[in-house]
Amino acid sequence: MRIHAPLFWLPPEAAHAAAVATLELVGRRPALRRLLRARLAVANPLLETTCFGLRFPNPLGVAAGFDKDGRAVAALESLGFGFIEVGTVTPRPQPGNEGPRLARLPAERALVNRLGFPSEGAGAVAARLARTPRTAPLGINVGRNKATEVARSADDYIVALRTLYAVGDYFVVNISSPNTPGLRDLHRGDLLGDLLEALRGEIGTQAARTGAPPKPFLLKVSPDLPEASLDEIAGLVIRHGAAGVVVANTTVDSPLIARANVGGGGLSGAPIRALVRRLVREFRRRLRGRAEVVGVGGVFGADDAYAMLRAGASLVQVYTGFVYEGPGMAGRVCRGLVALLARDGVRSVREIVGVDA
Ligand SMILES: Cc1cc2nc3c(=O)[nH]c(=O)nc-3n(C[C@H](O)[C@H](O)[C@H](O)COP(=O)(O)O)c2cc1C
Repeated sequence: MRIHAPLFWLPPEAAHAAAVATLELVGRRPALRRLLRARLAVANPLLETTCFGLRFPNPLGVAAGFDKDGRAVAALESLGFGFIEVGTVTPRPQPGNEGPRLARLPAERALVNRLGFPSEGAGAVAARLARTPRTAPLGINVGRNKATEVARSADDYIVALRTLYAVGDYFVVNISSPNTPGLRDLHRGDLLGDLLEALRGEIGTQAARTGAPPKPFLLKVSPDLPEASLDEIAGLVIRHGAAGVVVANTTVDSPLIARANVGGGGLSGAPIRALVRRLVREFRRRLRGRAEVVGVGGVFGADDAYAMLRAGASLVQVYTGFVYEGPGMAGRVCRGLVALLARDGVRSVREIVGVDA
């Protein structure tokens, strides 16, 4: 039995809240953090990588949605993750959708959620992150409030970005949650171009104010994109100076969603692995090294992470795999990656990124 198995006796949201609360407590105790790091984390130069100007101790990160309010960053680092992406953070606090809104499909190693961005709001999250000790890159994923008109979406992203700019190392613009009405419309070329340009402008303003180079921003996309839209999206990412694309969010296109009985939502975990890996490859080819791909979807073990890197992801993230595999996951995946890199005679992660693209 894995140490986190009792969490599965609780309803999914209660289990999640308990996990985050425990991690938050652990994060406040430096001696405990050191102990966990010594027991679980894998430090190996083979795993170190540089991506959009940031240095990562390893390429395995925690995906957005696990730590929406930035409570668990210090503890997640000590479990051995190479970076953490907090959020989605909305500019103003909001409760998210009514429950039930999260379900497990254990036989499929999947989750279905329609949380709808419960968030403490950018101000509270910024204050907490400013007090958080950390050693690895921190991404901040931003979104818009449900009550905001679709036409005013860019204002929300900009307010969230401005509020959080000082405390993050990179930013992710989430236009791909299926649980906020109208959000995925922002994949449309005209809207997306305007949004990315507005974000680039705001980052430029913040950078000028602080006298430091502009921080990188990425776009998080849906896995349900029509093939015909990929060229346009990749082109806009390059044209508007985004550092990369996070591929991908949850899918709405699966019969498994109805089986979860939460009234719709997005599916994550093992069933989206192949879909996401294919999309990573498609984006890698189209971005031609001018922007990076961060791969997320269905990673449970080192083989999955390795395949994602080979498909073209410079970094890999996990959410559902972490829920099922538990706190030892980062260490296990990192140890496995070291073995796979050594087996293939590869001297650094970078060398195998995209070899199967
Ligand atoms: C319960 C839950 C909540 C999520 N919340 C967010 C979120 O707030 N913002 C976001 O960009 N992605 C969110 N995601 C999507 C994940 O970051 C990830 O893209 C997706 O789950 C696929 O990865 P996985 O198969 O490893 O879970 C959420 C996923 C789950 C399961």
